Amino acid sequence: MIRVVSRINDWRKLRRSGEFEHRSLGFVPTMGNLHAGHLSLIERCCAENELSVISIFVNPTQFDQQTDLEAYPRTLHDDLRMAEEAGVDYVLDPAFSELYPDEYRYKVTESPLSREFCGAHRPGHFDGVLTVVLKLLLLVRPTRTYMGEKDYQQFLLIRDMVEAFFLETEIIPCPIVRDTDGLALSSRNRNLSPEERKLASQFPALLKSPGTAKETAERLRKAGFEVDYVEDFDGRRLAAVRIGQTRLIDNIDVP
Ligand code: PAJ
Repeated sequence: MIRVVSRINDWRKLRRSGEFEHRSLGFVPTMGNLHAGHLSLIERCCAENELSVISIFVNPTQFDQQTDLEAYPRTLHDDLRMAEEAGVDYVLDPAFSELYPDEYRYKVTESPLSREFCGAHRPGHFDGVLTVVLKLLLLVRPTRTYMGEKDYQQFLLIRDMVEAFFLETEIIPCPIVRDTDGLALSSRNRNLSPEERKLASQFPALLKSPGTAKETAERLRKAGFEVDYVEDFDGRRLAAVRIGQTRLIDNIDVP
């Protein structure tokens, strides 16, 4: 039976109990609205650990736009059903006041990587991500933590934070799960109109086409995308584009 824990004190008591002693614990942090991308992480987490925890928390401190935060889909009922079917043991589902008793007086800031790429276009975004993930890792104390390569910059920043603060968890990168036409699965895809969705399917294809990052950016612009950036880093080609109000990110091995 899946157990949902909303109060941090309840969780801390539980985590100290005998149930967790000498058992491996896997963790997948999420903002909910689970899809097959999240599920690939969750299923691996359940398969590789004796106990598994996911968190569902739409983290306000990582949103630089209030409208984006308000529009973020919340589907807790379906999420819990999917998590239960996948074999998750615990879901952490705290309120903001539970996770931020300090009201965000304290934060984790990284530079220079968090100021590049997505960070350059979303001020404060990675401060919010790193702060909430640090809080969650200290609460959960997982053996292994599963992160999607879809958010490649986020994965790198969390991997390095774990090393910088001597946290005792192994960060496990998981490959990008894509729709049949190649578009990386994302909660934001549902905000696309049918025409926008059609254009979106060209994003991964154009990203993969040969040439420099600059040439790829130009090709994306010509196809009708607004391009935030296309840049090569750490052997990957990272890109973010906008279609109307919707922002999409993706990355591939440098072609
Ligand atoms: P969220 O967007 O819900 O993503 C949760 C995890 O699922 C992340 O590690 C993300 O990279 C992974 N993921 C999402 N779509 C994926 C796909 N198509 N293929 C593979 N993995 C995918 O990322 C966040 O939440 C938040 O920033 C969080 C880390 C929870 C902090 O608030």
